[in-house]
Amino acid sequence: MKKKLSILKSDDPRLHIPAKLLTLENIKTKEVQDLIDGMFNIMHSTGAVGVAATQLGIDMSVFVYGYKYRSELPQHPEIPDAAIINPVIKPLTDVMESAYEGCLSILNLRGLVPRYRDISCKYLDRYGNEHSREFQSLEARIIQHECDHLSGSLFVDRVSDLTTLKFISQ
Ligand code: NI
Repeated sequence: MKKKLSILKSDDPRLHIPAKLLTLENIKTKEVQDLIDGMFNIMHSTGAVGVAATQLGIDMSVFVYGYKYRSELPQHPEIPDAAIINPVIKPLTDVMESAYEGCLSILNLRGLVPRYRDISCKYLDRYGNEHSREFQSLEARIIQHECDHLSGSLFVDRVSDLTTLKFISQ
């Protein structure tokens, strides 16, 4: 029977447990494949641009992300859905960009977060294939946000100007 997946809220200490790396054997299990499908379902049903396993209280190094334009999001070309496992990111330059972020774990809160504009990321896909790619702007931002979840931190930890934190009404 499938476990019901639900998003932990920001006062849950499990959000701060760093994720463990997955082995190739782990990745191929039904448990992990079902988890990835369940994470895509949550992402689509909530309209989020990313979901990390740690947000579900599961300490596995995996997140899903994707982007389709909606009015509350910045203009950006579509980013196809992908699952990212064991990501390792590296900034490619010192250039930082600030933009407002939100998070399913802290509903309705937005804050201005500086992120590296250009990063490289090494990761495995859901079939266990290795990739190394460069990412820019919004896609780089989403990946940095989700990698923070996997190391047990939230975007609010990176808001440098706390006066930018604001609650929005849904
Ligand atoms: Ni988040």
